[in-house]
Amino acid sequence: MSLLECQKIEVTAAKPYPVFLGAPLEALGEYLHSQFKELEHILIITNPVIAKLYAERLQKGLMDYRFDFLFVPSGESEKSLDRLSQLTTAALRCGADRHTLVIALGGGVIGDLAGFFASVFMRGIRLIQVPTTLLAQVDSSLGGKVAVNHPIGKNIIGAFYPPLAVWTDFTTLDSLPWEEVENGLAESIKHALIDDLDLFEFFERQEESLKQRNPLIWREMVVRSSSVKVRIVSQDEREQGVRALLNLGHSFGHALETEMNYRGVTHGQGVSIGLVAAAHLANAKGQMTLAEVDRIKLLLNSYGLPIKISEISMEGQDPQVLLQLMKADKKNHGGRKILILPQGIGQAVVSKECTDPEILDAWKQVL
Ligand SMILES: NC(=O)c1ccc[n+]([C@@H]2O[C@H](COP(=O)([O-])OP(=O)(O)OC[C@H]3O[C@@H](n4cnc5c(N)ncnc54)[C@H](O)[C@@H]3O)[C@@H](O)[C@H]2O)c1
Repeated sequence: MSLLECQKIEVTAAKPYPVFLGAPLEALGEYLHSQFKELEHILIITNPVIAKLYAERLQKGLMDYRFDFLFVPSGESEKSLDRLSQLTTAALRCGADRHTLVIALGGGVIGDLAGFFASVFMRGIRLIQVPTTLLAQVDSSLGGKVAVNHPIGKNIIGAFYPPLAVWTDFTTLDSLPWEEVENGLAESIKHALIDDLDLFEFFERQEESLKQRNPLIWREMVVRSSSVKVRIVSQDEREQGVRALLNLGHSFGHALETEMNYRGVTHGQGVSIGLVAAAHLANAKGQMTLAEVDRIKLLLNSYGLPIKISEISMEGQDPQVLLQLMKADKKNHGGRKILILPQGIGQAVVSKECTDPEILDAWKQVL
């Protein structure tokens, strides 16, 4: 795919930035030349798996610059202050300064870590996100949230630090294992549920083509799904209102992931079960018909995503424990649980009115 075929959408936040969709890795250098006349030094932060697959292609366009690779092992545990400190040491050894530009080449872990590094290194240096997982392309690279984890909580130490651009090359998804695809699909289906009935129907119609990774259909799915996120974060960059809708399914999902100690459950599986629980709760509140709940379950299941906890765990989770774990949710306010609920398919609302017995019932529906 040539640069001419790539699409550009814009995040219209306080500092607007372009999102290039279908932009070849090789052409990033050309873009940097056109935008940043004074640029000399680039730090590419990535992991060895991604570097082996894509460093050569990215490097092709960067030959006029001095660039260094900083490698981070794979895994969520790398989003840590220790790793941030090691990156800082390595960057200084490479002669990085305030004029250096960071390229975050990878999934959400690299995007969040490298993004946070860029936000604090010498009080902030330039950042370009180059997402290589489906989740990163449709979700984490968009919207400017960057963070590392604290032993007591995920993404506790972070910032809003929008990149100068997001450079999305769809071909990087060819090498993504299906389990990782599922994590992105769960978020994409969530986007459809929140804001785009057409996208939901597209997922229903294109199941086979998506599973076979038909490039044109994949392209359309990534473009439509990222457009939902771009639309939402453009309206509410700092999560004062509508951006909270992106948490649909996550209050339930996080509680389940925590209860299972992040073992035997992927984030996508947690979100999928969370979406079903939220749909049941919406049904109990009169915001969704049972037929719509079933339609959501059918769609998630058709992509291999679980709709009940028993599909992924034999432990027999206690709904009371899961309910208690939801108390720790970052969205809660003044002791009240704040949940995002779908309203039919293609719309969602923030609800402060859910009682514990109602939430408990929703958990029981997904056990
Ligand atoms: N900042 C945000 O707004 C935001 C939103 C959602 C999620 N997140 C964060 O995103 C992270 C999860 O991101 P993720 O799901 O991308 O996981 P990830 O970054 O861990 O990547 C998953 C795995 O895929 C591998 N990989 C990456 N690209 C590949 C490719 N093209 N081909 C083959 N393998 C590849 C990686 O090496 C890794 O092992 C979490 O830390 C989460 O907190 C952030």
